[in-house]
Amino acid sequence: MTSIFQGKSFLKENDFKKEELLYLIDFAAHLKDLKQQNISHKYLAGKNIALLFEKTSTRTRAAFTTAAIDLGAHPEYLGKNDIQLGKKESVEDTAKVLGSMFDGIEYRGFSQKTVEALAEYSGVPVWNGLTDEWHPTQMLADFLTIKEHFGKLEGLTLAYVGDGRNNVANSLLITSAILGINISIVTPEKLFPENDLIVMAEEYAKASKGNVLITDDIDQGVAQADIIYTDVWVSMGEEETFKERIELLLPYQVNQELMMKTQKNETIFLHCLPAFHDLETEVAKETKKKYGLKEMEVTDEVFRGKNALQFQQAENRMHTIKAVMAATLGNLFIPKA
Ligand code: CP
Ligand code: NVA
Repeated sequence: MTSIFQGKSFLKENDFKKEELLYLIDFAAHLKDLKQQNISHKYLAGKNIALLFEKTSTRTRAAFTTAAIDLGAHPEYLGKNDIQLGKKESVEDTAKVLGSMFDGIEYRGFSQKTVEALAEYSGVPVWNGLTDEWHPTQMLADFLTIKEHFGKLEGLTLAYVGDGRNNVANSLLITSAILGINISIVTPEKLFPENDLIVMAEEYAKASKGNVLITDDIDQGVAQADIIYTDVWVSMGEEETFKERIELLLPYQVNQELMMKTQKNETIFLHCLPAFHDLETEVAKETKKKYGLKEMEVTDEVFRGKNALQFQQAENRMHTIKAVMAATLGNLFIPKA
């Protein structure tokens, strides 16, 4: 008997139902436990995994690599300048070739269409490691971290404060709505999510009894927040928007004053990373020179505060990516929830 996950791709959050997402989160917690106890879990022994990266990455690349090795598989990194994809060979042809040699493919890049075409033509499971539209593997790590902290998911409120139209905002909006977490996207009106996404989130929220709030009002948006989440103001590939984004988003910086606006006793902070919270990067130094800012989407004080769980969240990328690969590629029997 095969499992409900076997052979499936993970291209966007709603490829899986609520119960399936919850299963993957709990399975990741189990795999984390095995790793901590040094118990072998080589569910993918003998498999080959291609890691395609058109955009740069620390966490996603490291997580797929170490997860694959822990599972007994061989990961092979194929960077933007290493292969013919897009320049000399179509996505369809590349997918057919890779699918004949690799058992699974991870793709990080610009276009959602590319990851979908890879899945269509390769004949093997494909995992989206971030596109301009979605960041699904990030979501599993985020909600595992939230569950580890609060012991539950349903009924919590997550306020995402920042660029309301990027991949992480889209993914949080839809995943929260699927899972029954109240979601506020707190962003200037100019950066409100696309209307069809809001409609989709509202549909899911109706079924899960969650709530969706899209607002430019910070006080209203964070009042009930158990989790405050932010991401960079300028995503990869949008570098020309820096000036405009700083002007729009500076009032939405996650600082101590904003954290204090919540009515909850214990609000945690999350960030998918990388973050601009100090002047220790080239981009931050450049931004300081041009715009006089020493911190961007989050202040160093919040980032280093006791409620900031972004490094636990980063570690969880590995455990959750491992769960997705093992479930979709391994011979595990996972019954229908
Ligand atoms: N959060 C995340 O995807 O990080 P990387 O860009 O380093 O992979
Ligand atoms: N929104 C960010 C996420 C990075 C993990 C970007 O796309 O650059």
